[in-house]
Amino acid sequence: MSDLVRFGVSLDGELLKKFDDYIKQHTYSNRSNAIADLIREKLIEQEWESDEIVTGVITMVFDHHQRELTNTLTSIQHDHHQMIISSQHIHLDQDNCFEIIVVKGRTSELNLLCNRMKAARGVKHAKLNLATTGANI
Ligand code: NI
Repeated sequence: MSDLVRFGVSLDGELLKKFDDYIKQHTYSNRSNAIADLIREKLIEQEWESDEIVTGVITMVFDHHQRELTNTLTSIQHDHHQMIISSQHIHLDQDNCFEIIVVKGRTSELNLLCNRMKAARGVKHAKLNLATTGANI
């Protein structure tokens, strides 16, 4: 982290009141930390939009009994093996499997991977949650 810099911010009173409520809700100890987090969040969103290398997690729930589905999902993951860091398979119950896949790559490639798995018959839920590599923040 580089040196701390102080700067003044002028805000509408109503907006500041809402921000202070937000700070309380999110248990920040001061406004500076809350502002820094909001700035970082926006920079990370910008990273996602610019198709930079990001990291994230794909969560997926699928039907354990669906014929060939496990093989299909494994094949798709092998097609995109260079962006998969690790995966974990959990047998949720008698009928459902839950998979967590940690990924790293360009946003567009990660979306493609997630969409391919989501489109497979028997997949009930597949969602990509993006984070950041932290390199540009
Ligand atoms: Ni299972």
